[in-house]
Amino acid sequence: MSATHIQVSGVNKVFKTDSREVVALKDIHLDIPQGQFVCLLGPSGCGKSTLLNAIAGFSLPSSGTITADGRLVTGPGPERGMVFQEYALFPWMTVEKNIAFGLEIKGMDQAAIGAKVDQLLAMLSLSDFRHRFPKDLSGGMRQRVAIARVLALDSPIMLMDEPFGALDALTRRNLQDELLRIWAELKKTIIFVTHSIEEAIYLADRIVVMTYRPGTVKRDMMVDLPRLRDPAAAEFNALKRELGQLVMEEQQRHHNDEMRMAAVD
Ligand SMILES: Nc1ncnc2c1ncn2[C@@H]1O[C@H](COP(=O)(O)OP(=O)(O)OP(=O)(O)O)[C@@H](O)[C@H]1O
Ligand SMILES: [Mg+2]
Repeated sequence: MSATHIQVSGVNKVFKTDSREVVALKDIHLDIPQGQFVCLLGPSGCGKSTLLNAIAGFSLPSSGTITADGRLVTGPGPERGMVFQEYALFPWMTVEKNIAFGLEIKGMDQAAIGAKVDQLLAMLSLSDFRHRFPKDLSGGMRQRVAIARVLALDSPIMLMDEPFGALDALTRRNLQDELLRIWAELKKTIIFVTHSIEEAIYLADRIVVMTYRPGTVKRDMMVDLPRLRDPAAAEFNALKRELGQLVMEEQQRHHNDEMRMAAVD
């Protein structure tokens, strides 16, 4: 068994606004071993991004602790790379410059940067697009660049917040397959947020279903199906039904909550 890579212990997160307090996360405990592919699953508003941002160190917990590689998370760090839903690329830089950017900041020498960028362009089938600007790429291509940019930094932990949410089904499946290939090759720990049940089953070693407000762990399950997984297989569909039920219960709570708030307004 590999060492615990990320440990979330008793994490709570409360957002205070003028009129009210929102308990976004409540008493979250998660031990994630190195190399595990974890999907955080749940309906809108259940705290998936809040938890991911806390692990990334962008927004710290109100109480509780998070460690990565045994060190307390107090802010962003090089061992944790983040891929966002909206491709966070520099529009004024070409594909290769976008990928090289983090390495230049790190002060790596030009020859080493060139070699690394070439390797990543090849890995993500971007070699023919190296001189293009983000505006001249499709959504799927842009997201490949965003992934390459995080991979460039060699972070052992990849945090991904609905990275494929804006893509069409075919592009999404292609990128899922590429991500699985890269994950198997580079042995990274991945925490991947999605509200797609099928995406979670297709990708994850482990699925953590969250409850709607306050965000808690509703179900924490291992997915034991061999990869590449077949969404048409009976086991896949049995799991889909089981998870569908769990997510629907939380969606219903979300809906009821909105109705109640509308009535108060
Ligand atoms: N900065 C903030 N200030 C106040 N409330 C916030 C803030 N960020 C998140 N929240 C609230 O915390 C709860 C969890 O939000 P979060 O964005 O983590 O949900 P999510 O599961 O990522 O949803 P989605 O699937 O829509 O991205 C929501 O009720 C949200 O309104
Ligand atoms: Mg979110």
